[in-house]
This record gives sequence, structure tokens and C-alpha cells, in this order.
Amino acid sequence: MKRYMIIGCGARSYMYLKAITTTFSRQAELVALCDLNPHRLSLAQEAVRRATGVGADEAIPGGGPADFEDLIRKCSVDTVIVTTMDRTHDEYIVRAMEAGCDVIVEKPLTVDARRLARIEEVRQRTGRSIRVTFNYRYAPRNSVIRELLQVRRAIGAIKSVHFEWLLDTVHGADYFRRWHRDKKNSGGLLVHKATHHFDLMNWWLADQPETVYASGALVYYGRENAEARGITRFPDRGTGADPADHYTLDLSRDNELKQMYLEAEKYDGYRRDEHVFGHYISIEDDLSVLVRYRGGTRMTYHLTAYSPWEGFRIAFNGDAGRLEYTVVEKTTVSGSDDDRGRSDAAADEGPLEEVTIRLLPLSGKVEEITPPGTNEIGHGGGDRRMLQDIFDPNREEDPLGRAADHTAGIYSIAVGIAGNMSLAREVPVAISEVVGR
Ligand SMILES: NC(=O)c1ccc[n+]([C@@H]2O[C@H](COP(=O)([O-])OP(=O)(O)OC[C@H]3O[C@@H](n4cnc5c(N)ncnc54)[C@H](O)[C@@H]3O)[C@@H](O)[C@H]2O)c1
Repeated sequence: MKRYMIIGCGARSYMYLKAITTTFSRQAELVALCDLNPHRLSLAQEAVRRATGVGADEAIPGGGPADFEDLIRKCSVDTVIVTTMDRTHDEYIVRAMEAGCDVIVEKPLTVDARRLARIEEVRQRTGRSIRVTFNYRYAPRNSVIRELLQVRRAIGAIKSVHFEWLLDTVHGADYFRRWHRDKKNSGGLLVHKATHHFDLMNWWLADQPETVYASGALVYYGRENAEARGITRFPDRGTGADPADHYTLDLSRDNELKQMYLEAEKYDGYRRDEHVFGHYISIEDDLSVLVRYRGGTRMTYHLTAYSPWEGFRIAFNGDAGRLEYTVVEKTTVSGSDDDRGRSDAAADEGPLEEVTIRLLPLSGKVEEITPPGTNEIGHGGGDRRMLQDIFDPNREEDPLGRAADHTAGIYSIAVGIAGNMSLAREVPVAISEVVGR
């Protein structure tokens, strides 16, 4: 049975914590926890105690960053799961591999080319494995697209793609409230968010990106944009501010957010509820990207983070037809009561997303395709399937190649990192400059 440690006990870590201590408790063991913030660490320790039913005096071993190697050694950890803030992924990936562990890391693998080179050097030297958890690949609707394009070759050779991703002012606005809003922490949305989208596209096209040109700006969030629209009131933070303000997130009004973030603030000063119309936002909210792939396909991509609805629209143009794919998602604030309670309520909630897939051959009839399991929680059912693929040794076969290794992790962030370089230089950037090959 493999022994796991989680580093970073925030909202996302609970997916792994719950999976290992409940569904996969016969196949995997959670043996240690680590976080900079002692309050979030103890909340996670308590969650493990509740899930495993051990006594109050038998807390799972835990510690802070300085205890990382000690915990690995004392608890005989095989694999470290990294769910910290993006900027710190490289540090823990490297330290885990140096200490003899394999790594599972949340997307994005890391945020810039310098950190990527360091991870690669240590991976090659230590021979350890890195797996990036691209849950979106596992959503049945996304697997159907891979099957149509690569197995059925339904539209022939793919010549161009138009890809539009929309983030709304509930879930999307949240990136402008916390650590993500500082580009140093997240690499901006081209890295932090679009890594999912670029990974999907690399996988759907079964190809690698070659050059990237990007253009973008902060056009909606932030103080100056709000002022230009005539807004004159700027609360310091969401907690205690006017609840009628659609953009306010009051941590004290939500049990989960209050426990996990408000009560933990005094230890590290991490404020989860900055106002989206405040100062010091260094990420873009409107981005255009042009990507050329090695096989010749050209993709235009656009990300809008202030949209009335959340989801995406894609059109693939091939020499035998066109595939149109639209998903409209229902959103919540990450880590909130709504988000955490969703699994219980999902069955009564009605459709969690609307999916349309249309196959239009150049000659012949239009085909409407209904993918299975579109009403599952957790990123279109992707989270559940991915967890099974990670933790269950009797996992189902993976003929579509959904498991993403470090190379997939590299090529997905490479588009975002090259995009950031292109934004700064205002010229196209070769992917080889980012990945060094
Ligand atoms: N695949 C997905 O769909 C998905 C969804 C949500 C989040 N994520 C990823 O999960 C990761 C965590 O996101 P989150 O929403 O849980 O964030 P969060 O802010 O809720 O949690 C981050 C945790 O990391 C800890 N931390 C920060 N810096 C640290 C350091 N230097 N050393 C040790 N611990 C540190 C914080 O104290 C906090 O507990 C991010 O990389 C994010 O991209 C992925």
C-alpha cells in the first residue's frame, strides 16, 4: 500500500484527503500532512481523524515547511501530493524528489521557465516520477472529443481551432481576490487557469505547440478600471463590507471559508477576500493567444474573466468536417459551503452543466452527440475518475491516454509561460525557448 503525504492543506487538498481516507483507504494510506499555516494544518488533521475514526489523541503527523524532510523520513512517505500555492510547487517537487519520493502535483506544474528548468534537472538526476493531475481530461465529455478526433478521425486532419473560455463574476472573479491576483504567485491566468485548456488542446490534437503569440490586459477588475466605470466605493476587503455588492466575499458568512481562511489569517496574513476592484492586481482578465502546433494546426484562444456565464466554446476545423463543442457550467466559490456541500446536494440541483457536441461532416448529415455522465460533480465527473486512476491499482484501462506525465505538464504550462513572455516582448515566442528542447 502506497504511503502519501499532502503538502498544502487548503481547499483543493480535501479532494485527495477524502479520497485516500475513504474511497481508497484499502489501496492508499495518508501518513502525514504539511502546511505553512498551523490552523489549516490542524483542520486537515481533524478531518483525517473524523474520516478514519481514530481517537482524539492519535492525530496524523503534521508539520510546517521546515519539517518536510523529517516527515518524509519518519513516516516512510512514498509519494508527496503538492497542493500549495502555484509559486511554491517547484520547491516541494524538488525537495520531495531529493528525499526519494515520487510526486503528484496539482496544475500548474510551475509558473515560469526558471522553475521548470530546476524541476527537470532534479527529475532527470533522481529518476523520480512527476504526475500532474489534469482532471479535465477525465470528464467523459472531454474524453469523447479525444475519441472523435484521434480514434474516429471524424473530421480528418485538423487544420485550425477556435477556442473561447469564459469565467464568470462568481467563480472567475475569485482569482482576483486572493494569491492568484499577483502574477508572481500564479503566473497569471495564462498559466494558472489556461494550463487546463492548453493541456486539453495538446491532448485532443495529439500534438505539441511550437510558437505562441499573446496579447492581453487587465480591462475590467482592478481599481483604475472600476473608477473609469464610475465606481466610487472601494471596501478594503469583503468581510464586513456591504453584502449587496455582488463582488463582495464575506468570509464570516460562510462556515467553510470562515474556518479555513478567516480564522487562519492571524498566522500568515493570507487574506482570501480582497476586493476585486482594489489595487495591486498584476494579472490580466482578457487574453488573446495564437498558437501554432508542430503538425501545422493553428489555434486562436481567448480567455475572458468577467463574463455573464462560465464555460467554453470550441470549433475544430478539419479537412473532412467541423466539430463544435460547447459547455455551460454552474459555478460556486472555491472552498465555500456551496462548493463543499455540492456533492450531497448535486442530485437535487438539476443539470450542473449543459453540453452540446455537434459533428458537421463536409458531406453528410450533422450528428448530435450526447456524452455519458454529464451531470456529475467535480469538473464534469473528471475528479472522481482521475482519483480512481491515481489510487486504485485495479483501475480501468486507459486507451485514451488520460494520465498526464511530466511532459504533458511541461507542454501545457509552456504555452502559458511563452504567452507571458510574448505579452512582455510583444513578439511571438518559440516553445523551445521555454522547454529548452
Ligand atoms: N485541478 C483543479 O481543478 C484545481 C482546482 C483548485 C485548485 N487547484 C490547484 O490546487 C492548488 C491549491 O489551491 P487551493 O485553492 O487549495 O489554494 P488555497 O489557498 O486554499 O490553499 C493553499 C494552501 O497552501 C498553503 N501554502 C502556501 N504557501 C505555502 C508554502 N510555502 N509552504 C507550505 N504550504 C503553503 C497555504 O497555507 C494553504 O493551506 C493550486 O496549485 C491550484 O492551482 C486545482
